[in-house]
Amino acid sequence: MKVALLYFTGTGVTAKYASELGKGFENAKVSVDLLRIKEGKKFNFSIYDIIGIGAPAYSFRAPRIVTKFLRKANLEKKPLFVFCTSGGMPGNTLWNLSKATRKTGGICLGYTSASGITNLRSWMPPKNDSRSNLSGLNDYDLSNTQKFATTIITRFENLPSNSMKQNKNWIPSFSIGIIFWSLFFTWRWQMLFTVGIKRVDKSKCNHCRLCASKICPSGAITMKKNNIPRFNEFLCVGCNGCVNLCPEDAIWTYQTRNHLQYNLYKNYL
Ligand SMILES: Cc1cc2nc3c(=O)[nH]c(=O)nc-3n(C[C@H](O)[C@H](O)[C@H](O)COP(=O)(O)O)c2cc1C
Ligand code: SF4
Ligand code: SF4
Repeated sequence: MKVALLYFTGTGVTAKYASELGKGFENAKVSVDLLRIKEGKKFNFSIYDIIGIGAPAYSFRAPRIVTKFLRKANLEKKPLFVFCTSGGMPGNTLWNLSKATRKTGGICLGYTSASGITNLRSWMPPKNDSRSNLSGLNDYDLSNTQKFATTIITRFENLPSNSMKQNKNWIPSFSIGIIFWSLFFTWRWQMLFTVGIKRVDKSKCNHCRLCASKICPSGAITMKKNNIPRFNEFLCVGCNGCVNLCPEDAIWTYQTRNHLQYNLYKNYL
């Protein structure tokens, strides 16, 4: 059996959760590939038996870059499961993810979610605050990854052979408030309000290119001839990756410049 864990991550939290879920499968002798969704990236899903799909919550829903990717991806009627991370209010995220895969016809084997602290840098403690105590993903959620993996494997093994038709009885889940938040905060507005227009402190930048090559999932960062990053604000999805993970803290915005970086999960990109 082979499992793909397909995930989107801005600052590495969902990547960490995917990797912990992966360990749960590997302990049960199932091989796992971790696949990070990035603008323009394509994957061959035909070699997998189960596909796990994960994303962070962005304004109570899955980031549009993910749902757009899923609608176009050829997931080939595979059994799947969905997972998300959030600061504690995932809202419709899990539902959005499974809804976006509905057309594949692959049955959804289960859902799980982990919470921690939000990666919105403007919500981080101020830079000079000595009380800063950033905690990570909830230990309780992490301790359940093994159980979840076992449940998914058991459900997969017990699937009747004609079961690859997904339940079409979706419960409509909307309210004026959620529609407002979704429309207003999950597109370019989100980037403007939560991250802000990105600028680079040229004196701090060490030209490592990490922001363009590794961190940004949306292709919004390219390097100029002088090896200083250039931002396409139109493509930015507001993931907070660059402002939190630049090793020199050289990327700043008016919203983020006085706050601590959130870089707990930088090793998971
Ligand atoms: C633009 C944006 C919007 C967010 N909206 C929410 C939210 O509605 N509810 C919540 O609990 N956390 C929210 N968060 C926090 C993230 O969901 C959380 O930090 C997540 O674990 C980040 O995962 P990542 O590092 O994989 O991107 C938001 C973060 C960003 C960047
Ligand atoms: S990650 Fe930071 S230091 Fe590296 S190139 Fe980008 S702005 Fe410069
Ligand atoms: S430019 Fe936007 S999408 Fe790219 S890493 Fe920075 S915040 Fe995320």
